[in-house]
Amino acid sequence: MRPIFLIGYMGCGKSTLGRSVAALTGWQFIDLDNYIEQRFHRTVKEIFAEYGEDGFRKRERAMLQEVADFENVIVACGGGTPCFFDNMEWMNRQGTTVFLDTSIDKLHTRLMRGRHKRPLIADKSDKELLIFIREALEKRMPYYSQAEKRFIADLLDSECEKSDTARRFISEFNIPSI
Ligand code: S3P
Repeated sequence: MRPIFLIGYMGCGKSTLGRSVAALTGWQFIDLDNYIEQRFHRTVKEIFAEYGEDGFRKRERAMLQEVADFENVIVACGGGTPCFFDNMEWMNRQGTTVFLDTSIDKLHTRLMRGRHKRPLIADKSDKELLIFIREALEKRMPYYSQAEKRFIADLLDSECEKSDTARRFISEFNIPSI
């Protein structure tokens, strides 16, 4: 089967949902940020600090192409992956792209907790973060909206929500079990 690429803003639930869908179907799950960290023996934050954002984006692009070669794989992309080079067009040619559309309130709540490992937002106050998310989403929407499919992923907080949302994803997109 061709790869499934989950795209969307930081905190939209790409990794949480991807992991749950993979566990229920037997697909392989890859979190692109984790994969990059393992391959380069550095955290995303360290890569940004050492090589700058440009250096991170080049590595991200190369690793995206590497993981897309795997069989039956669900890839949780980074929030910026579709917005650099021709990554979005490339993913649309290679597999199925799904944009996880999550409300700004949910993104803000999740990112207030998870901002520290994310270099683009690590130093922002709660209020600055909300403004940043709004502005960034507006800039990124032209890329996210090129996804083949769209899925609302607001409900992923409890185990029960995760499993319900993953089952809805599997049935909506007819994901076969492997
Ligand atoms: C980024 C999102 C992050 C990570 C990096 C940059 C972005 O991934 O790739 O910090 O530009 O939106 P997550 O969306 O998994 O947090």
